[in-house]
Amino acid sequence: MKRLACVLGVLLAAGSGAAGLGAAEADAGAKAGKVYFDSIKGGNCKTCHYTNDRRLVGPGMRDVTTRHSDEWLRSWLKDPQGTGKSDHPETADLKKRTRKTRVGATSCMKQPMSDEETRNLIDFLSTLKEE
Ligand code: HEC
Repeated sequence: MKRLACVLGVLLAAGSGAAGLGAAEADAGAKAGKVYFDSIKGGNCKTCHYTNDRRLVGPGMRDVTTRHSDEWLRSWLKDPQGTGKSDHPETADLKKRTRKTRVGATSCMKQPMSDEETRNLIDFLSTLKEE
């Protein structure tokens, strides 16, 4: 029994270590996402979006990961035109908030965006929540 407890202890320690690594990776991803968000050569997002709740060309990014699911954000970042045409409820909500009948058409986002760039951007956007 003692041996079993020991094995369990090691497994638990390994598990929490892995979780710690995950958080560190997300942190590094969020940093890379911020660089990409701010850079003209990157996503150029800053040109049209504040990171607070004020509107610039597009909506402020504060709480955007609360308004949207991960799935919708990934879709929007990868294909704003296609996502703008979809009848997804989050697209309908964006149209309502922006009072537009068409969304996703005027995007100057760098396309195509890689999976890693998309992941990092969402990690960064999720740091913009109201505390
Ligand atoms: C040329 C201006 C422009 C650029 C550059 C741009 N966006 Fe946007 N974005 C908009 C507009 C305008 C909207 C509102 C929907 C519409 O009109 O198409 C929007 C909507 C969004 C939304 C949905 C917001 C909400 O409240 O639902 C997200 C998320 C977003 N943009 C992220 C980004 C990211 C990340 C980048 C950089 C990779 C970026 N945008 C670059 C103009 C821009």
